[in-house]
Amino acid sequence: MKSILFLAQLALVAAAPSGSAAKRKACSALHFEAEDALISGTNSVLTELAGYSGTGYVGRFEAADDRIRFEIPSEEQGLYDLTITYAGIYGEKRASVVLNSGASEEVYFAQSTGFEDAPAGQVLLQAGDNTLDIVSNWGWYVIDSITLTPTPARPPHNIDEDLVNPAANANAKALYAFLKDNYGKRILSGQQDHDFAAWVEQQVGKAPAIYQGDIGTAVEEGIDYHGRGGILTFCWHWNAPVGLYDTAEQPWWRGFYTEATDFNIAAALQNPESNANYTLLIRDIDAIAEELLRLQDAGSPILWRPLHEAEGGWFWWGAQGPEPVIELWRIMYDRLTNHHGLNNLIWVWNSVDPAWYPGDEYVDIVSADSYTQGNGPLSGLYNQLVDLGSDRKIVAATEVGAAPRPELLELYQAHWSWFVVWTEPYINDPVWNSPEILQEIYDSEYTLTLDEIQGWLEQYS
Ligand SMILES: *[C@@H]1O[C@H](CO)[C@@H](O)[C@H](O)[C@H]1NC(C)=O
Repeated sequence: MKSILFLAQLALVAAAPSGSAAKRKACSALHFEAEDALISGTNSVLTELAGYSGTGYVGRFEAADDRIRFEIPSEEQGLYDLTITYAGIYGEKRASVVLNSGASEEVYFAQSTGFEDAPAGQVLLQAGDNTLDIVSNWGWYVIDSITLTPTPARPPHNIDEDLVNPAANANAKALYAFLKDNYGKRILSGQQDHDFAAWVEQQVGKAPAIYQGDIGTAVEEGIDYHGRGGILTFCWHWNAPVGLYDTAEQPWWRGFYTEATDFNIAAALQNPESNANYTLLIRDIDAIAEELLRLQDAGSPILWRPLHEAEGGWFWWGAQGPEPVIELWRIMYDRLTNHHGLNNLIWVWNSVDPAWYPGDEYVDIVSADSYTQGNGPLSGLYNQLVDLGSDRKIVAATEVGAAPRPELLELYQAHWSWFVVWTEPYINDPVWNSPEILQEIYDSEYTLTLDEIQGWLEQYS
């Protein structure tokens, strides 16, 4: 599930530095001085602050539509890592970067006393003339220059041979082998909710390869989709086991939200032997194990994504920082695997920040959720997840508002294993996914649909 707060955070993540990209070597960088750009609004060329390159720098982006425009000719289409040399002498700020008058990407400028380099995401230059605008946004910063470094070809992935559970069953192993085989070559289409999967099938004439549901409500639909040869993934909107406010503003069914309960996960994990709330956590895990066992008995492996979006803090399991939720993840892993014998699970972690990561020995796949418009490749987010899993874990886009366009995924080398689009108003709102783009995505050679994956379980067993 999305939230406005999450939208804001992911806008930043999308433009955040990519560790792996930053580490790669430059081939031939393009460099442009701000004082040579088209300067508009109240901006002017300044020279007071020492340390600039060229003959000056440009500031101060005082008005909302102040901008500078770089004109960038390119012989061919090419992907570049963008770096902006700026000075944040008025405090930390945000700027907008707009390529070829398209969507706006936000860039973060830390406070500084002199000129610094800010990583500003990736830009795809078209053959011919390009424009790159830096627009005020928060304003009150100065720009010295920009540098575009060709993004080198991605080195081969080095995905773990085996699942973390040494007793993983043949079905889980088959699914993992199937995902590994397609990783970097194809993306699996996916849809949240059975009715919306049916809607997609009606709309584009092809059904999603992956069905995502909530383990609390969607087991029957899951078994049905497994019967059609589909792949299942489940999240869990886990109501706090006790302490729900259950008021008009915070009804019981919002009980997975931090704001709907006073349940404290950190306190519940103290002194497990004598803590009634710890016992309640285990009771709930045991109850959900029954549902997962039904799917195991039906012969379906599961991409299991509990404790999702923990780092956002808007769900109670993430409300007390990283340590308690990491502990709860390990407890759940141990309980479901070793106590309940659930060997059909592939463990999908769903936060990006390394401080929240439960560890390579507890995670099979790393993932994130992103609600940004434009059907873009989400390459900044992808690169962060590659780094999180040391490129040894498959990376997935487990909830998106706008499905990524295959052409861009290939150009940006954003090798998401699968995408799942959330329900309305995302999948069926043209602002997020126009009928034409949805058709293009489902028709693409690069996208795997339900009809194209038939027999995967037998083939990889
Ligand atoms: C268990 O959690 C509830 C709800 O937050 C709280 O009121 C109660 O004091 C907790 N019990 C213990 C033993 O900590």
